[in-house]
Amino acid sequence: MAQTYHQLRLDLATALAGFLDPEEAHAECIQWFEDGLDLSRSWMAAHGTEQAPGEVRRRVSGWVRRRRKGEPWAYILGWSLFRDRRFKVTPDTLIPRPETELLVEAALDVGRRLKVDHCVDVGTGSGIIAVSLALETDWRVVASDLCREAVAVARGNARALGAVIEFHEGHLLDPVPDPVGLVVANLPYVDPADRSTLQRELTFEPASALFAPDRGLALSEALLAQAHARRAPACLLEIGAGQGGELCRNAVGIGWHNAMIHQDLAGHDRILVALA
Ligand SMILES: C[S@@+](CC[C@H](N)C(=O)[O-])C[C@H]1O[C@@H](n2cnc3c(N)ncnc32)[C@H](O)[C@@H]1O
Repeated sequence: MAQTYHQLRLDLATALAGFLDPEEAHAECIQWFEDGLDLSRSWMAAHGTEQAPGEVRRRVSGWVRRRRKGEPWAYILGWSLFRDRRFKVTPDTLIPRPETELLVEAALDVGRRLKVDHCVDVGTGSGIIAVSLALETDWRVVASDLCREAVAVARGNARALGAVIEFHEGHLLDPVPDPVGLVVANLPYVDPADRSTLQRELTFEPASALFAPDRGLALSEALLAQAHARRAPACLLEIGAGQGGELCRNAVGIGWHNAMIHQDLAGHDRILVALA
């Protein structure tokens, strides 16, 4: 049946509202038109009464089918924004989260105060932290990840955005040559025991990017120990809500001079800063 672009958008809004909460449905409807179909609001104002071709309608219904099953919009679209830059994402990489901007901002602040000239992003995923630091400072930036496919995506993002980064594949700092410089990481920190209570969307993201043994603490603790042994001037980690106290005590126990927590806008522990 023939359908105008306006009707298509109304039908899409109704379909999304059937399985997303109203705010999310409204925001996604706009994103699907603007980012997915590349149809701006001004284009819609001028052409919304025209017939939407069958190919466009089929694409939208294919997206609705995938989204209804819980697949995140960023994977359907193939990219996501972080600090106003477009990063390719695939099911091998975590989708960038707004909280990670706090980690980048803390790294910029601590790095400038300590006058560092190089840093490493451990568990780089799509490369959002490494690329942001490379483009927003004059530091030499190294990035590593255990997942080969994620390193390939991060490398592609760095190239596309013009960031010069040295990439390595392997466990934490193992593949990174000395001196490591400022260590920054958003490693997996979700407790595997919480797996069954998580949102359906998260099941589409790689488990190796989300979960860490020992109530989600194992990788953060291991990196704090490695970074200290490798004489990093500071180690900044994104952490889970409620993990701050234990990780701070552990950091000081490992030998870091000082460890503090920054909370996110919701008042949850989010960033740990350990200083040598
Ligand atoms: C929470 S995701 C973060 C990705 C990206 N840094 C971001 O902020 O969107 C964690 C990343 O750590 C990687 N990872 C998991 N275990 C690792 C390990 N032992 N050593 C290095 N990287 C690891 C995962 O492959 C994943 O890309």
